[in-house]
Amino acid sequence: MDAFGGKFWRAFLFAFILDCSVCQLSWTEGHEDLVDFVPVSTMGVEAVVGRTASLPCDIEPDSNEDRVYMVLWFRHAGGKPLYSFDVRGRSFNKALHWSDPTAFGRRAYFVTMSRPSALTVDGVQLDDEGVYRCRVDFKNSPTRNFQIKLNVVVPPHQLLLYDEAGHDVAGVVGPLEEGGNFTLLCELRGGRPQPTLTWLINNKPIEDHTVLKNDGKVIVSRISIGGAERNWLNTSIRCQATNTPLLSPHERTARVEMHLRPLSVLISNKPGQMSADMEMTLVCVSHGSRPPAQITWFRENRRYTRGKHSEFTNETTTVSRLTMLPQPEDDGAIIRCRADNPVLRVALEDSFMMSVVYRPVLTMALGSTLNPNDIKEGDDVYFECNIKANPKEHRITWYHNDEPVLQNISSGVFISTKSLVLQRVTKVDGGLYTCRAANQMGESHSRAVYLRVQYAPTCAQPSPLVVGARLDEPLRVRCTVSADPADVSFYWQFNNSGESFQVSPARYVSTGGTTSELRYRAASERDYGALLCRATNSVGRQKRPCVFQIVPAARPSPPRNCTTNRVLKNNLAYLAVKCVAGYDGGLTQHFTLDAVGEITRVLVNASAGSSDLIVHLNVSWSTLESLSEDEELVVTARNSKGASDPVPLREVVFRDAAKRAESTTRAESKFPLAATLAALAAILTAVSAVVIVLLRKRNDNSSNSKRPSQSVVQVDAEGRRYLIAYPPADKPESKPDILNPKSDNEPPRVVLESCDSKNYVIREVNSDHRPAAYNSHTPDEGLVNLYSPLFFTITIP
Ligand SMILES: *[C@@H]1O[C@H](CO)[C@@H](O)[C@H](O)[C@H]1NC(C)=O
Ligand SMILES: *[C@@H]1O[C@H](CO)[C@@H](O)[C@H](O)[C@H]1NC(C)=O
Ligand SMILES: *[C@@H]1O[C@H](CO)[C@@H](O)[C@H](O)[C@H]1NC(C)=O
Ligand SMILES: *[C@@H]1O[C@H](CO)[C@@H](O)[C@H](O)[C@H]1NC(C)=O
Ligand SMILES: *[C@@H]1O[C@H](CO)[C@@H](O)[C@H](O)[C@H]1NC(C)=O
Ligand SMILES: *[C@@H]1O[C@H](CO)[C@@H](O)[C@H](O)[C@H]1NC(C)=O
Ligand SMILES: *[C@@H]1O[C@H](CO)[C@@H](O)[C@H](O)[C@H]1NC(C)=O
Ligand SMILES: *[C@@H]1O[C@H](CO)[C@@H](O)[C@H](O)[C@H]1NC(C)=O
Repeated sequence: MDAFGGKFWRAFLFAFILDCSVCQLSWTEGHEDLVDFVPVSTMGVEAVVGRTASLPCDIEPDSNEDRVYMVLWFRHAGGKPLYSFDVRGRSFNKALHWSDPTAFGRRAYFVTMSRPSALTVDGVQLDDEGVYRCRVDFKNSPTRNFQIKLNVVVPPHQLLLYDEAGHDVAGVVGPLEEGGNFTLLCELRGGRPQPTLTWLINNKPIEDHTVLKNDGKVIVSRISIGGAERNWLNTSIRCQATNTPLLSPHERTARVEMHLRPLSVLISNKPGQMSADMEMTLVCVSHGSRPPAQITWFRENRRYTRGKHSEFTNETTTVSRLTMLPQPEDDGAIIRCRADNPVLRVALEDSFMMSVVYRPVLTMALGSTLNPNDIKEGDDVYFECNIKANPKEHRITWYHNDEPVLQNISSGVFISTKSLVLQRVTKVDGGLYTCRAANQMGESHSRAVYLRVQYAPTCAQPSPLVVGARLDEPLRVRCTVSADPADVSFYWQFNNSGESFQVSPARYVSTGGTTSELRYRAASERDYGALLCRATNSVGRQKRPCVFQIVPAARPSPPRNCTTNRVLKNNLAYLAVKCVAGYDGGLTQHFTLDAVGEITRVLVNASAGSSDLIVHLNVSWSTLESLSEDEELVVTARNSKGASDPVPLREVVFRDAAKRAESTTRAESKFPLAATLAALAAILTAVSAVVIVLLRKRNDNSSNSKRPSQSVVQVDAEGRRYLIAYPPADKPESKPDILNPKSDNEPPRVVLESCDSKNYVIREVNSDHRPAAYNSHTPDEGLVNLYSPLFFTITIP
């Protein structure tokens, strides 16, 4: 049977291929191809549903003489053609196309321009799938048959990429942490033929996936990957599905997102030493954190919010700059820079210890046990000075109203390391106190602390004050005290030799705080005496009253201590006369410098300075020289009661030799000046400690010659220079002063050891007040250089 059948089919095939006329015949008999045949081969063609299929059919004749008559398309099983291409009786261009409207209809068109020609079918449908035959009839050549199998491909209709929890990953996996893992599922629905699923990581396929489900309609595949590394960031993971080369594969992609811990943090410019009040910029850099590191500065354990902060961030690096002004209290403090991954909550830190140099910072306060508003005279107070300094301060000094305060145990001033103690304070201790200290960075001082010492009232004006008054003259006596608190009450008292009584408060008024004014009138001699004014405040009663001596007005006393000096001022020579005002007789006085001869001429009229009671009466030298020989210079004090006794000016000195020579002769004839030339022989050896200067007036017999009222003599001896100030004539008992003039090579200190009317013993001491060695020597006549207009004779016995 088999053998027979095989022969039969072979014979048939042979007949089919050779005998074309059969086909032609059968087709002509009503467009039906009833001939059973077996095509040589079947060609497979794929088309995507909805798109265009192209079923090839070669219609090229074998020879040029031949030409195609007709092309017919059949569905595999059907005997009727579903498309015809008819060239019979017309030109090829004008061939007749016919498509069975119950089959492809308008969707099909036979395209002959292409090689091979092909039947194109638009809008391919699922049931277009099948086997088609193309029969080509030629004029001469035998008919050809081609068999084409059309496979209609349905692309997958859904591809999902989701995580274990079933959530669509939406393009991003993660964020993962280092060492973390992830699982992805790819779900595919639809598609014919069934598509294949592929996973790719960074475009490299991976085999290691698990198919969880495949029921022919749905495929679910899973990958699980662990041990994430930093470089996984931005890895692309792709799930692809494909079932035809006609379409690019369906795919879903996700990028790996990661959270990365910072790799480093560094304060890149740790300063060795910072200087207070000098701005400093610190830079802290952190790499590797994702999301970017947040950099925070700390001082000790607190966020550092002072200064200027600025931050720069890119994907891998965060740079923070802190511009700060170091403060003294920052010395020794730790500055930390912390780089935080805000998501992972991991941080790295870098730090350093600040070393800040600064001028001393001083705070000064009254001792804490003291109530600053309740310090009274006699209390003990103390101040404390707190110092912070780097480098350490050299020393502390104390100032009271900007004057240095020195330790003085006898007066109760103690200075210890950091405190100042004042025992038994008085009114004058009140004021502003500061402490100061210095180091290499400079000196600074504390804020001033005011020490208020409350005190009982004291007289705020000269006391006693002599007030001259005529009988019945109305007086207003003003008494001013100083007191703290200033809230005072006054009372007045009257004293004279016979009685003492309190003045009725009706007679005085307080004119503002610390002043009281008493209206007084001496009605009889008995009303002359002392008015005493005393005030009281909360601290106490005024100890010594302000005393007003009410005296009958009188002519003034003569001025005292008159001295003369030749001075040059603006190239004019003057005789500068200076006197101390005497008692004014209870009335305002003024002073005159008079030339007394046959008549009295007033040369100068002046009043005394109110505070120092010094009177200056300057007269030009030319005026003096114009005086006649018998005129004498006198100083007189005057008030409305009259003039004082005149005080003659006996000493007028011409400094330069010519003038002196001239004036000496003139002086003898013109001025009754009794001044004698004084020569001082000071004998001092270079090393001697003891100098005995014997002074004696040369003109001993002229006993009425007066000692100078006050004089200073400069003595040069053995290269050293001394100034000796002699006592005034009216006080011969007081000792002269040895004044050390300023000079570069400071002379030794000298003190007056003892003196009587003739002998002056001067002792030299070295700087620590121990006597140097004594030495005797031969006296010698010394050079006398006059500083004041006085001359002395020095005789060495
Ligand atoms: C993967 O990560 C999850 C949570 O992130 C964890 O519970 C699980 O143990 C991890 N598995 C592996 C194999 O590391
Ligand atoms: C990672 O991918 C994101 C998003 O595409 C991109 O902005 C970023 O620059 C990438 N980072 C790196 C380090 O490649
Ligand atoms: C980020 O900034 C740092 C410092 O300016 C630089 O070195 C680095 O190249 C930058 N990185 C990127 C990804 O821009
Ligand atoms: C100490 O104080 C007393 C009395 O105020 C004064 O006389 C003396 O000169 C002072 N001593 C020193 C060393 O200042
Ligand atoms: C005033 O008189 C009283 C009593 O006679 C006497 O104690 C007091 O010392 C006198 N005061 C003055 C300043 O004379
Ligand atoms: C001197 O001056 C006073 C006022 O200062 C005046 O009262 C007096 O009369 C003057 N005396 C002479 C002599 O000019
Ligand atoms: C007098 O001379 C002294 C010293 O030169 C000077 O201080 C004073 O002001 C002068 N007085 C007058 C009134 O010129
Ligand atoms: C007068 O001069 C002497 C010595 O020069 C001095 O001690 C005295 O204090 C002076 N008198 C007055 C009131 O200035």
